[in-house]
Amino acid sequence: MFISFEGTEGVGKSTLIQRIYDTLLEKNNAVTLTREPGGTAIAERIRALLLEVHEEQMCSDTELLLMYAARSQHLAQVILPALNANQIVLCDRFTDASFAYQVMGRGLASEKLQILNQSFVSRMPDLTLWLDAPVEIGMARAKARSELDRFEQEKISFFNKVRSGYQYLYETQPERVKKIDATQPPEDVLSQALAYIQKHITV
Ligand code: TMP
Repeated sequence: MFISFEGTEGVGKSTLIQRIYDTLLEKNNAVTLTREPGGTAIAERIRALLLEVHEEQMCSDTELLLMYAARSQHLAQVILPALNANQIVLCDRFTDASFAYQVMGRGLASEKLQILNQSFVSRMPDLTLWLDAPVEIGMARAKARSELDRFEQEKISFFNKVRSGYQYLYETQPERVKKIDATQPPEDVLSQALAYIQKHITV
């Protein structure tokens, strides 16, 4: 089973994924925990390039293509082999992030994304958990935890567009994309996430 986790910055995604990973391992499941952009040595170098702040402005097309360069490497080296070995794959972000950030946030044509998905993405997640919270709440958390990366330096208006992108995916693909209110206590977020996962597998 392939599960992806999505959301704007600072919604508690990493904490939730780690807790789900621990819960699944405790119950003797074979689990791979990974992230995008990244997840392999080469893809992590592409991630660094994407998140660093450069003097030169990165074109939105370059950003999109780098995301897919990293994704191709990650699918081939990590995700597909793990799924073929019957592992549960927990992935911190996947193609929905490219729709939310590059298409809705940056304003790129959705046709570009469609071409990339058709050409390079042979497997979509079975389940996507979208952690949703007002952008201001998440940004305050992101600011408090570390120096802001190239994405985190974007304006609130950018993240509101990203959030509306996730809302669109949730409304148009409700069988795959589930929304969880990330402003709830972490225990409630975890139990809701586990309930969605349990509909697919016995954990
Ligand atoms: P994160 O792993 O800390 O959430 O950071 C990754 C950043 O990359 C985050 O700001 C969202 C962004 N991103 C995209 O813009 N498009 C994508 O396809 C992916 C996977 C991530």
